[in-house]
Amino acid sequence: MYLVSGASGNVGRAVVEALVADGREVRALTRSGAPAGFGEGVATVAGNLDEPASLAAALEGVRGVFLLPGYADMPGVLAEAAKAGVERVVQLSGMSAGSGDLTNAVTAYMAASEDAVRASGLAWTIVRPSAFMANTLRWLPQLREGDVVREAFGDVAAAMIDPYDIGRVVRVALTDDGHAGKVYEVSGPEPILPAERARVLARELGRDLRFEAIPDDVARVEMEAAMPKKYVDAFFDFYVDGNLDESRVLPTVEEVTGTAPRGFREWVRAHLAELS
Ligand SMILES: NC(=O)c1ccc[n+]([C@@H]2O[C@H](COP(=O)([O-])OP(=O)(O)OC[C@H]3O[C@@H](n4cnc5c(N)ncnc54)[C@H](OP(=O)(O)O)[C@@H]3O)[C@@H](O)[C@H]2O)c1
Repeated sequence: MYLVSGASGNVGRAVVEALVADGREVRALTRSGAPAGFGEGVATVAGNLDEPASLAAALEGVRGVFLLPGYADMPGVLAEAAKAGVERVVQLSGMSAGSGDLTNAVTAYMAASEDAVRASGLAWTIVRPSAFMANTLRWLPQLREGDVVREAFGDVAAAMIDPYDIGRVVRVALTDDGHAGKVYEVSGPEPILPAERARVLARELGRDLRFEAIPDDVARVEMEAAMPKKYVDAFFDFYVDGNLDESRVLPTVEEVTGTAPRGFREWVRAHLAELS
């Protein structure tokens, strides 16, 4: 049995689907425990990652856990897993986690989650993905409103990854031997600019979309209205000061799974219903 956290989210859902495709039994964890549209072989369970004791029932009889980063008491979550007899954990992290710059709030929470799993006594694998293609779903309100897509950091190219490929890597690390103690940095197949994503979307949706880069000063005001300032500072550190390079194309997805990662056009085609 495998427990997958964040199962209603982009990555968790992909992990569930990859495990099911491999014939594994899965428990899909969300806070509400409400069904998240999975088929047979998946039981949905309730638990709050911010409250480790709430996970006890979900962890019963579980062999491997997929864990999202950044919750209030990651050592506590891992202690519950160890108490329940869990053998291995795949910890999601982020590409900046290895930079050592703990003044960056995003890096700090990723690094703290990595430290916790390394210290847990469980067999662990860490997966550090580049930015997700699924971040494009944040354009949905704009796509409903009209044909202009605005985004911050318009000149920053990233080798974005399809969560589908993160799911495949996590599945292998959870079920196959030989992945304990490894840190996998994973990317998509090519660096892509936001304007290129808009062009691909326009083609696939048959729409006349126009991309507009949001100037940095305007982006800062808009972002500070939507999230704590420490995270806005972290993203400016990554993408304006240039302290995170997510444009690198890495061979890891193919090395771990045997097949190359999907490109952005394939991601769009797999999500046409949501995007239309
Ligand atoms: N976006 C990127 O480019 C990027 C890059 C690298 C790493 N990451 C990391 O990847 C993580 C996952 O991303 P995603 O896009 O899959 O997230 P997402 O789609 O926003 O989904 C988040 C999931 O976490 C669950 N959740 C939230 N709070 C919870 C809690 N207290 N206890 C239990 N479950 C909780 C949510 O379920 P319910 O709300 O139903 O409980 C949902 O299933 C991010 O949080 C980030 O740390 C993201």
